[in-house]
Amino acid sequence: MFVTTLHEEIPLLGGDVTDGVVRVGDTVRRPTRPSTPSVHALLRHLEAAGFEGAPRVVGIDERGREILTYLEGESGLRPLPPYAVTDEALAALAGLLRRFHDAAATFRPPRHAVWENGSNDDLAPELVGHCDVNLDNVVFRDGLPYALIDFDLARPTTRLFDVVTTLRHWAPLADPVDLDPVQRELEPGPRLRLFCDAYGLRPRDRRRLLDLARLRFSRSYVAMRARAATGGGWARMWAEGAGTRIRRAGAWLDTHHDELHAHLV
Ligand SMILES: Nc1ncnc2c1ncn2[C@@H]1O[C@H](COP(=O)(O)OP(=O)(O)O)[C@@H](O)[C@H]1O
Ligand SMILES: [Mg+2]
Repeated sequence: MFVTTLHEEIPLLGGDVTDGVVRVGDTVRRPTRPSTPSVHALLRHLEAAGFEGAPRVVGIDERGREILTYLEGESGLRPLPPYAVTDEALAALAGLLRRFHDAAATFRPPRHAVWENGSNDDLAPELVGHCDVNLDNVVFRDGLPYALIDFDLARPTTRLFDVVTTLRHWAPLADPVDLDPVQRELEPGPRLRLFCDAYGLRPRDRRRLLDLARLRFSRSYVAMRARAATGGGWARMWAEGAGTRIRRAGAWLDTHHDELHAHLV
């Protein structure tokens, strides 16, 4: 009886892409991909650097899946609970991303590192970013963001590009028709400023933020369409309108550009 409990596999359904993510005891098992060894090197570096807000690498199991530590807390909740969208949560997330970036900045990727492809900045990479800080990839404790999970899309990028991707979901930068009910009353302009202040974003990055967001929308559209062609979870997301949502977000950003920018300068 005890042994059965130990090996019980509990599906984790909070994500949107990866089939077969399960919890086993205090670990998570996930399918591996070409980038897994590089992501593990990053996670090991974060651990050595004393960054607490990411899962630890345990190894590879007998079925070839990666084993990561399971982080207690709340994640992947739909509809979103009100605590997920408070200003306090946004400021805590900015602090978490800043500490992650500062730890990641001293990481030297292994020779022949393999990273997932995706849209990116034109400027030279400063670090390996998370590149997918959406609402499902953050674990909350006591109502505040506590850790980042799902580093599948990590890749060399700029701090600002990772900030922009995060704000896309958390400001949020989106057409209100695509938002969860609790997000519709949020004021994205003041929240952009709040996040940038809590992160300590450089003035030159603040001035570039919306232009890079606009560029990211066009590039993400192309990158996601290419991923959708590979099938699986990405094809499902695309069929469910992911491309249309990016297009709408781009149009919404064009309409509100000037009033949003006023909060960044
Ligand atoms: N290390 C972890 N600790 C706690 N929960 C996790 C962990 N990894 C995944 N989960 C849960 O499983 C969900 C799906 O996992 P995720 O790695 O994000 O896969 P996907 O690629 O499908 O988004 C997450 O949203 C989260 O709720
Ligand atoms: Mg995820």
